[in-house]
Amino acid sequence: MPGYELIGEEELDEIKDIFSNGKVLFRHGFENLRKGCFKVRDFENNFKNHMNSNFALGVTSGTSALRVALSSLGIKEGDEVITQSFTFVATVEAIVESNAIPVCTEIDKTLNMDPEDLEKKITKKTKAVIAVHMLGTPSRIREIKDICDKHNLFLIEDTAWGCGGKVQNKFLGTFGDIGTFSFDFAKTITCGEGGMILFNKEEHFKKAAAWHDHGHENNPTLPRWEDSRSASGFNFRMSELTGAIGIAQLKKLNLIINKQRENKKLILNELKDCKGIRLRESPIDSYETADALIFFVENENIAKNFRKCFLKRGYSTKILPEAISWHFAGLWDHIKELKNHFDIELSNQFPKSKELLSKSVALPINYTMPSNYPKEVKKAYLEAIS
Ligand SMILES: Cc1ncc(COP(=O)(O)O)c(C=O)c1O
Repeated sequence: MPGYELIGEEELDEIKDIFSNGKVLFRHGFENLRKGCFKVRDFENNFKNHMNSNFALGVTSGTSALRVALSSLGIKEGDEVITQSFTFVATVEAIVESNAIPVCTEIDKTLNMDPEDLEKKITKKTKAVIAVHMLGTPSRIREIKDICDKHNLFLIEDTAWGCGGKVQNKFLGTFGDIGTFSFDFAKTITCGEGGMILFNKEEHFKKAAAWHDHGHENNPTLPRWEDSRSASGFNFRMSELTGAIGIAQLKKLNLIINKQRENKKLILNELKDCKGIRLRESPIDSYETADALIFFVENENIAKNFRKCFLKRGYSTKILPEAISWHFAGLWDHIKELKNHFDIELSNQFPKSKELLSKSVALPINYTMPSNYPKEVKKAYLEAIS
């Protein structure tokens, strides 16, 4: 999560550029004031080009990106949308907000969607799948895509935690119909808040662009106040200030990922002789963003002990084991739409995921890593198992 560690002069310069060019903080119009300064538009173009995608739309958050994506695919009341049991609650919230029925699959040893379980959970009502690339490691996206194609389902990739990751040299977020991204403060690149959506097809892009802007079609032949519209919408527009920060952060994405990967390797090297550790798996030919290092220990007690021993040394873990309640569908009794879908107790619904997650430890990977950090990880682990 180092985007926030690298906020500096470059971001400030982009903001100053707005202030030197008419101070227009709104993404549309005011051409006479802004002297050609369009930060959201530039950020969208740069992002789309970086990821080799066809269309990009900036929005207010990763959560709204998912909501807008579902709207652009025409997901409606009664449709089932399948995602995975290990994700942030936002993925399921976006489905619920679309009046659709959330269904979750088990995860596999990549800690992402288990394609075998996905196939089992498809019904006549299923319309779309949201595969999440959790904490920097790609899901088995090629297999998931094949299943979606076979069953004629839309595929959205929730790439909030996978920005810049690849499988077989293709960027995450570009395999399916739509890829969504988050730039909140914990993400690989950040604008404080913000999101981006990548689209394969112009049809979905156009629907999303209108829906996220009260239905505005941005008809170039009409002034905005007379703009054409075909359907109602909402407001999830990105601000120019967010766009400006995004432009500067995107230029740092490769630097961040390279450094994270390097730091992850240093920790792995230190842990290589430790007994009882198994690493999270990643699909063949995947290029991880190394946002976190996740490993499985022998049991839940060791995972919890590790955290205690690590905290004592002044360091903390990330999401696993501590923040699981926000990231595991088996604990979301407060989401009645999810609870109602399953006949049996929600907490018993995902035994495989529960087993994997309870033995997992996630270490955050930062840009600035203290040189003794890898050794501290090892010491904490040895203490935890002793
Ligand atoms: C997998 C996943 N999806 C969506 C989101 C939502 O992003 P945002 O915080 O920008 O709304 C997050 C945020 O942590 C996430 O982890």
